[in-house]
Amino acid sequence: MVTPEEAVASFEKRFGNHDGFRRLHAKGWLYRGTFAATPAAGALTRAATFNGDPVDVVARFSNGGGNPKHPDYAPDVRGLAVKLSHGAGALDIVAQSAPKFPVRSLDRMVEFVKAGEQSPAGFARLAAFIAKDPRTVLPALAADAPVLKPPTSYAEHRYFAVHAFVWVDADGKSHAVRYSWEPEAGVNYLSGKEAKALGPDYLHEELDQRLTAGPVRFTLRVQLAEPGDRTDDPTVQWPASREVIDAGTLELIGPETERETNGDILVFDPTRVVDGIELSDDPVLAVRSLVYSESVRRRTGVSRPADVDA
Ligand code: HEM
Repeated sequence: MVTPEEAVASFEKRFGNHDGFRRLHAKGWLYRGTFAATPAAGALTRAATFNGDPVDVVARFSNGGGNPKHPDYAPDVRGLAVKLSHGAGALDIVAQSAPKFPVRSLDRMVEFVKAGEQSPAGFARLAAFIAKDPRTVLPALAADAPVLKPPTSYAEHRYFAVHAFVWVDADGKSHAVRYSWEPEAGVNYLSGKEAKALGPDYLHEELDQRLTAGPVRFTLRVQLAEPGDRTDDPTVQWPASREVIDAGTLELIGPETERETNGDILVFDPTRVVDGIELSDDPVLAVRSLVYSESVRRRTGVSRPADVDA
């Protein structure tokens, strides 16, 4: 089994070693704003984050690769990581634009990242990666390929948090849920040629510009499992017929300029939850936290204490 250290070392081997940058999702930008939950969400979780009062948000949009110089117009997964802070407690929702996750273990994630290299060796690895588990990988690649195209804007993309979580309501009843962010501005793409004409950093330039005209909003969509739906496998999607509620609105108002300056360390960790929200039994969710800590150690030199930046 691959260790978190070996996993991050393999990401460095694929994308290079870029001092100070995240080992995946290296290129990204911070924004600030608020989130306000709907009463429907408050009925399903006792988490204070979802009591309807506006909570402070730091969000980071990113491209998926580990090279911070990679141009925005190249095909890529895009990320939206959101930290919802309520008093001393923070909840992180870490999501990306690919709707179907292709792997259910860290070993397979490492193989997947290695297989993405655009080279003869990479293509051979991709063939071997698919051959090991075609029934999972082929539908995932088919669903994910269209969203790798350059988007018109980080604000015009949908983002999926992939894993199941468990919401616990005021009566102590549990509800398995999955999150996604739905953009108010819709989902739109550019052709490669159009994106290239906008330059290598057009995504954050566009977003900064857009925010001068007003806030950018996303709705948090929460899908509710039914008994028997699997919560331990990130490659399995629940049937589209499952109830989905609008759980709240994220409103971003401008760039965040204080965080990640003067030695400040910011970590978005999908296992950071608050009372009223529990982790599911998905082993990939659990191992991500260890891998992210290893990436933090390498990018900051700091072995991450459990409460860093809570
Ligand atoms: C085994 C599976 C995965 C591994 C090994 C992995 C690895 C990593 C690493 C090493 C980082 C950099 C962390 C840091 O330095 O702070 C990262 C960031 C990120 N990952 Fe993953 N990841 C995995 C699955 C996922 C999934 C399922 C999603 C989305 C649902 C996701 C979305 C993101 C995003 C959005 C970021 C950027 C966070 C930020 O802006 O700080 N990852 N990932």
